[in-house]
Amino acid sequence: MTKKPVIAIDGFSSTGKSSISKIIAKQLGLIHMDTGALYRGITFFALQNCLKEDGTIDIDLVISSLSHIALEFQDIDGELQLFLNGKNINKEIRFPQVSDYVSVIAKQPEIRHFLLKTQREIAEKGGVIMDGRDIGTVVLPNADYKFFMTASQEERTKRRFLELQASGEQIDIDTVKQNLISRDKIDSEREISPLKQAQDAILIDNTNINREETIDLILSYIK
Ligand code: C5P
Repeated sequence: MTKKPVIAIDGFSSTGKSSISKIIAKQLGLIHMDTGALYRGITFFALQNCLKEDGTIDIDLVISSLSHIALEFQDIDGELQLFLNGKNINKEIRFPQVSDYVSVIAKQPEIRHFLLKTQREIAEKGGVIMDGRDIGTVVLPNADYKFFMTASQEERTKRRFLELQASGEQIDIDTVKQNLISRDKIDSEREISPLKQAQDAILIDNTNINREETIDLILSYIK
């Protein structure tokens, strides 16, 4: 049997990376790993355990607490859900408060280093599609296929807003927009593993195509 491929999908927030990767994983029989969930998991831990008196996150405390953080994906009815120290936090990691802080957590070198091993271990056996910001550039530079996803800011804001609304969040569209702008800025400008297109990644702009068309386009490159 030929070895299954390793696919890296990076790109801007709310380009549909995770939902598209999930469907492609099913079609090709691959494991899907949403690496953003891991950064969100640490942020959720930080919001619960590492707040300063003024309500902001004590980054040094988060870093010194890393040895107390066990993040693990479990298959629940065919969907990989994230557990933090044995507790399912799949819903909590999507809370807007987590989105507000996650990029500040994700720019810390110690935290990125902590999560690198988990990500690489999963890809070792092949047969994986991993989505994030630095998968093609840093985590899996030898991936068989690399894609970099983008879409207009307006379209991405609309998608994230509808997604949050559907999950019952009371949030206004401008707050969603500001969060996307701020995260993309921090993610692209950070010193370690910034969000950028790998030289050998294929650019996928899905501003004017829907989810199914984006999936077909990506699959058309995979032999
Ligand atoms: O993919 P998602 O939007 O859930 O990612 C949340 C945040 O996690 C990103 O805005 C980014 O700060 C961080 N992240 C990262 N590297 C990855 C995946 C996510 O820095 N590989």
